[in-house]
Amino acid sequence: MYSVETQSLVKSFGDVTAVNDVSFSVETGEIFGFLGPNGAGKSTTMMILTTLLKPTSGKAMISGFDVRQNPKKVRENIGYVQQETTVDEYLTGRENLILQAKLNHIPTSEIDSRIDDVLDLIELTDKQNEAVVTYSGGMRKRLDIAGGLLHRPKVLFLDEPTVGLDIQTRRKIWEYIKKIHDEFDMTIFLTTHYMEEADQLCDRIGIIDGGKIQVIDSPENMKNAMGNEVISITIENDENFESIQSEFEKLEHVSKINRDQNKFTLFASNGTEVIPKIFQISNNLSMTITSISLTKPTLDDVFISYTGHEIRDDDSTYNRKREHAKMKRLRV
Ligand SMILES: Nc1ncnc2c1ncn2[C@@H]1O[C@H](COP(=O)(O)OP(=O)(O)OP(=O)(O)O)[C@@H](O)[C@H]1O
Ligand SMILES: [Mg+2]
Repeated sequence: MYSVETQSLVKSFGDVTAVNDVSFSVETGEIFGFLGPNGAGKSTTMMILTTLLKPTSGKAMISGFDVRQNPKKVRENIGYVQQETTVDEYLTGRENLILQAKLNHIPTSEIDSRIDDVLDLIELTDKQNEAVVTYSGGMRKRLDIAGGLLHRPKVLFLDEPTVGLDIQTRRKIWEYIKKIHDEFDMTIFLTTHYMEEADQLCDRIGIIDGGKIQVIDSPENMKNAMGNEVISITIENDENFESIQSEFEKLEHVSKINRDQNKFTLFASNGTEVIPKIFQISNNLSMTITSISLTKPTLDDVFISYTGHEIRDDDSTYNRKREHAKMKRLRV
């Protein structure tokens, strides 16, 4: 029996099909992640799995209980930490957890010891009696996660657990997630649009885009399936992309080509031989290459290869684009 299982899950909001025929299963004890950009359908799927939304069609089960037929049983088995933090700013950390414990019907005699345990786990014991309004974003998120653990769920759902946090804080949260997983032997289902997060945390990843799952596999297998090398080429915006693409398609050792606006990604088995040929093409077509790089495949490349585009709102992409714009300005 799987901890999480969906079969042909669909959720429509009027004309928008947010979740489009999604089927996957998560083994007990796994950390499984949905990786996808804004609007991919990650939160909608998670809200169906946590019984907060009803599917339009298809089936979803948690620990063998159907979300539609047995929502109460499902809720007993899960913890859910929403995308937006839900803690009350004017209560202390501990008061927030007491509230959460009562909402989850934890026996009164056990509330104190359970709260002590989770505070210890996420290292908030020292700050527990201070109002949450004094907490940093990372501390609020940790408190949210603590709240989701109080009733010791079998399956923990984390919707974008580190979105908007700086990289150091994100890394710290990853450590807590790993600790929770190891100490409680919990199945964890998380969503993210950070490649590195998916890579670091997940045993398996489902890449989701436009409501559809594009591929499900371990990060390692995904990267290995890409071939040995990735050549990224950025060219001037005013070039004839079609003729460039058709020249690239004739290249030997190139197994797959993606174009996202003025950026081409070539998946190659022998990149060092391909690069000189790219410069030949560039000469022949008198096109201007603004940058070219040869790298080992990353999850970014996997994402591009399955969806045809980058995850645009990723902070690092944003920063890279800003850096690139700055460099261009400096060059003028
Ligand atoms: N209640 C709703 N009514 C109408 N459309 C909705 C509703 N909820 C979600 N959608 C639409 O469904 C699609 C999927 O949204 P969802 O929130 O699941 O994406 P997501 O992957 O969680 O994105 P993000 O990374 O921004 O959190 C989007 O196009 C969104 O606008
Ligand atoms: Mg979301």
